[in-house]
Amino acid sequence: TSLLLFVILNVVLVNSSKYQNQRSPRKFPVGFRFGTATAAYQVEGAWNEDGKTESIWDYLTHTNSSAIRDGSNGDIAADSYHLYKRDVEMMRELGLDYYRFSLSWPRILPTAFPDKINEAGVKYYNNLIDEMLKYNIEPIVTIYHWDLPQKLQKMGGWSNPYIIDWYSDFARVCFKLFGHKVKKWITINEPAQICDFGYGRDLLAPMLQIPGVADYLCARNLLLAHAKAYHIYDKEFRPKQNGAIFITLSAQFYSYEFGKYKEAALEANDFNWAIYSYPIFSKTGDFPPSMKKRVARKSAEQGFFRSRLPELNPEEIAFIKGTSDYFGLNHYFSFYVYRNDSVNGMFETPSTDDDLGVATYFGEGWQIGESNATMFVPKGFYYLLTKIRNDYNNPPVLVTENGFATRGGLRDDDRVTYYRYYISAMLDAIAEGSDIRAYTAWSMMDNFEWAAGYTERFGLYEVDFSSPNRTRTPRKSAFIYKQIVRTRELDW
Ligand code: NOJ
Repeated sequence: TSLLLFVILNVVLVNSSKYQNQRSPRKFPVGFRFGTATAAYQVEGAWNEDGKTESIWDYLTHTNSSAIRDGSNGDIAADSYHLYKRDVEMMRELGLDYYRFSLSWPRILPTAFPDKINEAGVKYYNNLIDEMLKYNIEPIVTIYHWDLPQKLQKMGGWSNPYIIDWYSDFARVCFKLFGHKVKKWITINEPAQICDFGYGRDLLAPMLQIPGVADYLCARNLLLAHAKAYHIYDKEFRPKQNGAIFITLSAQFYSYEFGKYKEAALEANDFNWAIYSYPIFSKTGDFPPSMKKRVARKSAEQGFFRSRLPELNPEEIAFIKGTSDYFGLNHYFSFYVYRNDSVNGMFETPSTDDDLGVATYFGEGWQIGESNATMFVPKGFYYLLTKIRNDYNNPPVLVTENGFATRGGLRDDDRVTYYRYYISAMLDAIAEGSDIRAYTAWSMMDNFEWAAGYTERFGLYEVDFSSPNRTRTPRKSAFIYKQIVRTRELDW
């Protein structure tokens, strides 16, 4: 029945196009690959089943009722823990080359440490991977996508330097367990969100709100933890397992409307994402010079003896440099910036925003659809990809996320428009020489959108969260994406 429904919806939805084809078909490079993505806490559910212990998201959603916009949680989510076969069926319907998902640390290691491995949790991931491999769908596995064991948070989480060992021990377990089947590893998803939103602000768990201090500590520890996992894979596993390992960064593109803010825009990109890409991908390594300079100056003004931005010593710089086989990129939207020193003092403690001293705004007409979750700035994607090519000597890029939120509904023309324009912008960058190898739609299906709960829907497939079996239904965007994947052309 799901196949019949798929065929009927295909005909009905695709033929109801609001947008006319505007250009001739554009081809993707030979070997270009397509996938979709999800993350453990956002889709799995089964939050306390089969020996899984509490993550920071279980803890946050169960203890802080105002943290999530609709008061919801990921206890059941899309129930992928039980519905993984249907998930793989969707991958086949879409014709995907690969599927990107993440491993839940407290599901695999209930004590957070490798003293005890939870066989039931391991079995779930083996089932999922085996089902995918049966149909030639490659797993791209994120080791850490935000669901830290709560036990480790009590010990400071990413602000405690011991996380470098805690995390890399977990990574080693993952390589051992799944490395003979998984050939692409993502160490950590979106460090900027983990550190800035989780430690600097109250936008993601653990919502610590110690800006300008804990977020920078987190950044330093996270870079070292990532690098340590990279080196472990490189030395202990790569010789036999022969895979690739990289980090996924989120990058908004910051631009300027008025010439005098050019420097502010450059610095905004540094503070937002080059804080992670510069240490890993630049020739020199270390934090971006503009950041070191600004934070040192601000810290001195505030009477600190040392800069609040921790130092990386020469060994650490060398240890981090070059530790990513690809530039994993998540991108959604762009901003204009202007220098605004009145941003200073907005927070009681010195904050990263204070340090940066810029304010941002959206360009007019950037928003489409009723959701304010995603802005529509395809050109920004092109500029960003071009900047990455120029700043880092054209690294191989895997776009590990890109997508658009609506409030729901199968006829998601706004999402279709978003995908067409953004993919087209990516093709523009490729045409000019950017080495982009893959594109991943976020998300394959609706899921728990962190602090927004279920109010923002990113899925190519709609998930009915009121049905006990979490029915998944393809949206129009699913058929359009399927067509792009099948024809290897952007047809418009
Ligand atoms: C970034 C995150 O990696 C993912 O978990 C999130 O749901 C999407 N972007 C959409 O906001």
